Amino acid sequence: MQVKAQELKQDTLPLRAVHHVELYCGNAKQSAYYYRQAFGFSFVAYLGPETGVRDRVSYALQQGKVRFILTTPLKEDGITPFLSRHGDSVRDIALETDDAEYCFRTTVERGATPVREPEIIEDASGRVKVATVATYGDTVHTFIQHIDYDGPMLPGFQAVPEDTFARPVGLKHIDHIVGNVDWEQMDEWVRFYTDVFGFSRFVTFDDNDISTEYSALRSTAVSNHNKWIKFPINEPAKGKKRSQIEEYIIFHNGPGVQHVAIETDDIVNTIAKMREQGVEFLDIPDSYYDDLLDRVGPIDEDIAPLRDLNILVDRDEKGYMLQIFTKPVEDRPTLFIEIIQRKGAESFGKGNFKALFVSIEREQERRGNL
Ligand code: FE2
Repeated sequence: MQVKAQELKQDTLPLRAVHHVELYCGNAKQSAYYYRQAFGFSFVAYLGPETGVRDRVSYALQQGKVRFILTTPLKEDGITPFLSRHGDSVRDIALETDDAEYCFRTTVERGATPVREPEIIEDASGRVKVATVATYGDTVHTFIQHIDYDGPMLPGFQAVPEDTFARPVGLKHIDHIVGNVDWEQMDEWVRFYTDVFGFSRFVTFDDNDISTEYSALRSTAVSNHNKWIKFPINEPAKGKKRSQIEEYIIFHNGPGVQHVAIETDDIVNTIAKMREQGVEFLDIPDSYYDDLLDRVGPIDEDIAPLRDLNILVDRDEKGYMLQIFTKPVEDRPTLFIEIIQRKGAESFGKGNFKALFVSIEREQERRGNL
């Protein structure tokens, strides 16, 4: 979808989409291999000692319009405490804008904590203006404004030869990014995005409390005007035992990104490839598929491959969607990835939460964290 200039004017901040997600990693070299081989990203650009940066390395990966930057410190510095506190985790949800200066000044005026003053970064491929503010936990948003840059990721990154090791699986763009915040902090962070960022409550039938016998969470989603940036925010709620959000908060040592949801337009093919390439997904009880069509109504797909691959289906008033969740992508039970294919539905899959919780609780029990 092309965003028209007129639409952007109605937005409080001129934000277009998520530009990239930066993860801090203990060993970006090996993580890059995992995201290339298992998730199908291509290694497109690099930054490190060879390009004149002394204190860290960054691998820029891309598939469709999904961009991940994996960064590892080379010295004990500002990144190291983040890593020991959180483990491998999302540091930056960078947002594409027409005016980084305006986004920075406006959000800081309204109460956002400044992290990096507006600054033009440049190399032979052109200029980009960047500025950064803080959000929940140690997560930040960098505003990215292209001035005349036509390089591979951002100024400072050097393009690398075409990646012949990547095994693309058809990932297109980021659909939504979910944050887990602490007990009773959800409303405050929803207010942060509505009051400071000018986002709207993204009202879906996912709202309200979601619980199983053991786990409970509260979730509210916000989005920017063009709906290309969607951030559901979760907080733990009291259940009989420890919920998955609480487990996250404990192992992450505080709030952070719980999952990044990426859209494909052929989920059966995408997931078959990802499984073949070693990505682990949550197991769904076989019984989930027995009465699936009674729950969601007619769908285009055959049930058999969905059952084989453990793909979930949910419907809202606008249509349906298919989704699946990986197991955590690191040893701590923190960040995971969702793959989603939308067929009209705009919500996030509340109908599946119960089946998912049962699966997640089984994993928590195996970890001794229930
Ligand atoms: Fe999601």
